[in-house]
Amino acid sequence: MFSLIQISDLHITLSPEERFRGVDTRASLNRVLRTREVHEADALIVTGDLAAKDPHPEIYRHIKSVLDVCKIPYHILPGNHDQSDLTAEVFGIELNDGKLNRIVEHPAPMIFMDSSTEETHSDDLEFLKNALQYFSGRRPLLFIHHPLRECDHPYFDTHCVLEGREKIREVLESGGGVRHVFSGHAHKSHSQTVSGIAYHVGPSTACEFYSTPEDVFDSHQMPGFRKIVVEPVLGGVDTRTIYLS
Ligand SMILES: [Fe+2]
Repeated sequence: MFSLIQISDLHITLSPEERFRGVDTRASLNRVLRTREVHEADALIVTGDLAAKDPHPEIYRHIKSVLDVCKIPYHILPGNHDQSDLTAEVFGIELNDGKLNRIVEHPAPMIFMDSSTEETHSDDLEFLKNALQYFSGRRPLLFIHHPLRECDHPYFDTHCVLEGREKIREVLESGGGVRHVFSGHAHKSHSQTVSGIAYHVGPSTACEFYSTPEDVFDSHQMPGFRKIVVEPVLGGVDTRTIYLS
């Protein structure tokens, strides 16, 4: 067995004095990174919204410095508050047609899709089909900032949806080995299984949201993360969210 930790929606502010919805997001991230679960993890996956609001190289440099200290392999995906080229430059990741779409082999077969433009393009679908082909006969995990299905979040399910996400689902549900999709963006924990694929949404390290169709509210400010345990041979997955009180 090996374990992955998904952290999401860090919303790190440009200056240490700034707050995101009243939260010291640098301190929240540090609390998560100091947990036993993180220190025992085989890899850390960051699923976007690294920046509080607007992307800035200093924000990415700060995040890189605190992740590097953990001495755990980590992988970064941008969210809608991030900029792919800046993220790639600071973290030293190669861009693929201007995006951070890529596959990773270790410690698990993983597919990373960059949804930071909030739109699904034909080259994203082409990338996904090629990735599924590459991992043919295996059970890759898919990570993408935006949820690919509704997550019982009235505001996010109507106003903050990745355009064309149904096309990604069509590719996933028509073949290939993906059985688990991990997203962030909605600042809440949610899982549902449709057509044999489990769609998970992970919590934020900053604050948790609930919403009405008109607005978003904070439900609490306990930093959270998702633990993903993978069985290496058959690719079975066990996952749960953890909050720090
Ligand atoms: Fe987001």
